[in-house]
Amino acid sequence: MTLQIKSFEEYKAAYERSVQDPEGFWAEQASSFYWKEKWDTTLEWEFKSPSVKWFLNGKFNITENCLDRHLESRGDQVAILWEANDPNAPAKSYTYKQLYIEVCKVANALKANGIGKGDRVCFYMPMVPELAIAVLACARIGAVHSVVFAGFSATALADRIKDATCKMVICSDYNNRGAKNIPVKAIVDDALSQGCDSIETVLVHRNTGGDVNWQENIDKWWHEEVDGQNPYCPAEVMDSEDMLFILYTSGSTGKPKGVVHTCGGYMIYTCFSFRNVFQYQEGDVYWCTADIGWITGHSYIVYGPLLAGATTMMFEGIPTYPDAGRFWEICEKHKVNQFYTAPTAIRALMAHGNEYVNKYDLSSIKVLGTVGEPINAEAWHWYNEVVGKGNAPIVDTWWQTETGGIMITSLAGVTPTKPTYATLPMPGIQPCLVDGDGNEITENDVEGYLCVKFPWPSMLRTTYGDHERCRQTYFSSFTDKYFTGDGARRDENGMYRIIGRVDDVINVSGHRMGTAEVENAINQHPGVVESAVVGYPHDIKGQGIYAYIITADEVNDEDGFTKEIRDVVTREIGPIAKPDLIQYVPGLPKTRSGKIMRRILRKIASGDTSNLGDVSTLLNPDVVESIKEGAKV
Ligand code: WT7
Repeated sequence: MTLQIKSFEEYKAAYERSVQDPEGFWAEQASSFYWKEKWDTTLEWEFKSPSVKWFLNGKFNITENCLDRHLESRGDQVAILWEANDPNAPAKSYTYKQLYIEVCKVANALKANGIGKGDRVCFYMPMVPELAIAVLACARIGAVHSVVFAGFSATALADRIKDATCKMVICSDYNNRGAKNIPVKAIVDDALSQGCDSIETVLVHRNTGGDVNWQENIDKWWHEEVDGQNPYCPAEVMDSEDMLFILYTSGSTGKPKGVVHTCGGYMIYTCFSFRNVFQYQEGDVYWCTADIGWITGHSYIVYGPLLAGATTMMFEGIPTYPDAGRFWEICEKHKVNQFYTAPTAIRALMAHGNEYVNKYDLSSIKVLGTVGEPINAEAWHWYNEVVGKGNAPIVDTWWQTETGGIMITSLAGVTPTKPTYATLPMPGIQPCLVDGDGNEITENDVEGYLCVKFPWPSMLRTTYGDHERCRQTYFSSFTDKYFTGDGARRDENGMYRIIGRVDDVINVSGHRMGTAEVENAINQHPGVVESAVVGYPHDIKGQGIYAYIITADEVNDEDGFTKEIRDVVTREIGPIAKPDLIQYVPGLPKTRSGKIMRRILRKIASGDTSNLGDVSTLLNPDVVESIKEGAKV
């Protein structure tokens, strides 16, 4: 196993070493894995193109490290523990041995359906064990998984299938989520009707049962394809830099891009970070409440925990069904030791009152984690005191889809915490703050653009099918640095606090959204002339979506039109992108060169119209007054 740091002194020593001799440090971590052929060069990199390669010419398969390697020592230990949406349904569990067998069977079924190394397989599935199993089955045969969060719309799914030219979609028939029943297969059918010509097979897992439309030459039932398969499947030999998966994420411009992660570095880093951040011990039950449709689920439900031989829990449902005590009921029931969730869930549950927490015995909890957006002080203290009873250190983990693993965080019980601060970088991570001119700020007690100046093993390698976009987005703002898109503060002790995005990306309930993407969706409505979307402070969601819209004709039925706009966005992206507030405006404040002044729109949306700065140089200064008057906050 990789190093597990046990004291602040050890952390400081490991950090120092990882900066002085990064290659030596990571080679040491990598040597504890199972390689078929050892790598010959640890690292080759330059951030111009960019080109980053770790553990060059190493040969192995990540699933042999997640599964085969554990069979002898922990074959009968639970690998995946699954809790259903329905609180009365029995939990399911898979030991490492059972998981290994299921993965092999699905891997053989994929092969039998023409899937091989390098082929892209799209997932559109709820949080059922079969999702994790099939993801691992792809990795077993060297196929590239592209998991799409099942809350995205058919159109969003189609966009992602087309971008990665996927050969197969794996989905379920329906999905029970809270009190809702979602027709998952029908959404896939709708996506395929939007021109996904590359798809040869749709593999359908029967989850709830119920009628589905069936296309004989394309649709196949999971149970018919998988059940009779051989429970052994040799692992495809992969190179460290072969692609492991694609995961789409939003940026400030254009359509979502496919972030590409490769096998070697990702394996080392997710295991290393999992063990150190959460201080996982033999026999612990670890629960991350994320969905596998996001990077958090990839790295810290599936890969990191399984690589570390942990018991990882998957939950099908939502925090408030059947009531706001569900998370805590599950923690009590399964004696959860490490609990990892998002600030938006903490705030939502906090609003329901302490009784829901206090009803349950949470004494098993040793570590509390948070991820996805800045955590406000009130939520931090509630989490610490009401959930953790002051006994469970909070790890506020800052990272991104692109970073593959946790970058800045406390190590539970090992390094200090500070409310609302992610605190210190992981060993091997070299963050820095940069000013507007691109100069690194070396002092403490400062704010700046958060960058990373040295490669780390799990960083993105490219954006699928468009390497130039990767360079442009992450490596062109500041010379020789990876730019995160976040602003951060560093206190007098060198601890980091993430302030939030400084680009046109908003973070709604921990879901990342490009304002341009939402605007494009709104503009699909034939009555819309132009729109501008900004984030505004929202008590539960962190940020809400505020849309300013210019319509062709006067809007008489505002409620009706607003509903139409929300429907368009739901159709184009999904319900998570629906604007919370919509204001119909006669114009948008623009500079003389025609650029929308978002700064002004953000300020108005935040409810602060006191000091909008000099608007006299705008193309249309009058419009600002009228927007202020009609503001929805
Ligand atoms: C953005 C990345 C990787 C986890 C899920 C989100 C924000 C993430 C924190 C945190 C403050 C955070 C940043 C980042 N973010 N974690 N602990 N504190 N902000 O992944 O969808 O790629 O979004 O989430 O703004 O850039 P993602």
